[in-house]
Amino acid sequence: MKFSIKSGNPEKQRSACVVVGVFEPRKLTDAAQAMDNVTNGYIGGILRRGDMDGRAGSTLVLHNMPDALCERVLLVGLGKEREFNDKAYGDAVRAAFKALQKTGATDAALFLTDVPLKQRDAAWKVSQTVIVAMESFYRFERLKSKTEGVKPQLRTVTLGTTRRAELAASEEALQQGLAIADGMNLTKDLGNLASNICTPTYLAKQAVSIAKAHKLKATILEPKDMEKLGMGSLLAVARGSRQPAKLIVLEYWGQAKKEKPVVLVGKGVTFDTGGISLKPAAEMDEMKYDMCGAASVLGVITAIARMRLPVNVVGIIPATENMPGGNATKPGDVVTSMSGQTIEILNTDAEGRLILCDALTYAERYEPDTVIDIATLTGACVIALGHVASGLLSNDETLADELLHASAHAADRAWRLPLWDDYQEQLKSNFADMANIGGRAAGTITAACFLSRFTGKYRWAHLDIAGTAWKSGKEKGATGRPVPLLTQFLIERTRKRNT
Ligand code: BES
Ligand code: MN
Ligand code: ZN
Repeated sequence: MKFSIKSGNPEKQRSACVVVGVFEPRKLTDAAQAMDNVTNGYIGGILRRGDMDGRAGSTLVLHNMPDALCERVLLVGLGKEREFNDKAYGDAVRAAFKALQKTGATDAALFLTDVPLKQRDAAWKVSQTVIVAMESFYRFERLKSKTEGVKPQLRTVTLGTTRRAELAASEEALQQGLAIADGMNLTKDLGNLASNICTPTYLAKQAVSIAKAHKLKATILEPKDMEKLGMGSLLAVARGSRQPAKLIVLEYWGQAKKEKPVVLVGKGVTFDTGGISLKPAAEMDEMKYDMCGAASVLGVITAIARMRLPVNVVGIIPATENMPGGNATKPGDVVTSMSGQTIEILNTDAEGRLILCDALTYAERYEPDTVIDIATLTGACVIALGHVASGLLSNDETLADELLHASAHAADRAWRLPLWDDYQEQLKSNFADMANIGGRAAGTITAACFLSRFTGKYRWAHLDIAGTAWKSGKEKGATGRPVPLLTQFLIERTRKRNT
């Protein structure tokens, strides 16, 4: 799909479909009013007759309006004007594209970016529109022998504005929105791929091809390299699998090398059976998504490389399967991590932290300014925050605030949980420096406490995306989160330096 921004009036568009908003109850936005004026009150008449009341999510397609230059007008309900917020804007755009897909229109001109929204400028609305539109067009059909249903006809989308002053900023926002959507699509594709295809080796190949496409540096560490580095914890998880583990490193240097990089560490468990602490059968297929942290790292790097963002970012992905087997790690086994700290593995299903801890130690060699790890780490996070917000834990107040700000801006929710020392004692082991589980209470926090023991040398934050990386049920599929949050965080870093 092609997007462009154009300044002009809605009533002047010779489009297949002009899209305008209506507030509840029956209040026309400026763009809708303009269409109403040239059509002799056609829209007003429809509202008065009660066919459309502006309720959130409602839509109505009007054909062949008298005196209109366009073939169709799509009315989109925006809900109550004083309740119109970021989420309502996104919902309206989603409803609009859902309706557009059902029409035969091959092009559309949207007039929603001029609708006033508290604290958000046209640029924000433009990038949100692009992201939501691309989201509504995403399909994963690689593994089907034939595609289902009718393909949407829409090819070109024009984002119309009557305000010329906002054009330049909107153009930049369009490019950012496209880059983020692109990164999200990659993240979704990798997540949705079956684990017999998306193996650690496959992820490594993907990283190498991203590096080729954008002229980045990719390094793949093999099990023998990990052995030399003393990554006993990562290797302990990989023992049960026939698939060789990989440590994938992807470097993007968008500014002088003397600027310390942001390191993104993504959990890449391409399938989590639980290992010897085997998971129950129900919904186990969804554990193919246990590499969504890794996929989001690749998605973010794709997005910033496409934007040529002036930041330095290193992605580190420990990738492995977690399988039972004759050689697998057993509950009670004690291993030595790369940091030298020993770990008693009481539950082989708490494998994410075991692979992340060695990657976090490996990150030290980049002398990072900031390290953020992203992981589908705990079922407890789904219990705490559901599928709405990612869990955020950090040892640095400023970093946590920066991430929360980016999260709100990107409409990619996150919520902070505490990381107080009080929780650390749950990780006590009688036989090693620490245990890999901390009991049922505060499972998300004790998992982060475990990681915190490997992050003393830099500012660090942890995103638990167990509830947000994919959807279950009828709409099962990866979401592409938290690519928007992280990309926005990196964009905001470049702004801070410029001012
Ligand atoms: N990948 C899972 C976490 C998970 C479970 C994410 C369900 C999304 C849905 C992780 O490796 C895991 O198994 N965690 C255990 C930890 C426990 C053994 C301390 C969990 O959450 O049950
Ligand atoms: Mn597990
Ligand atoms: Zn896992």
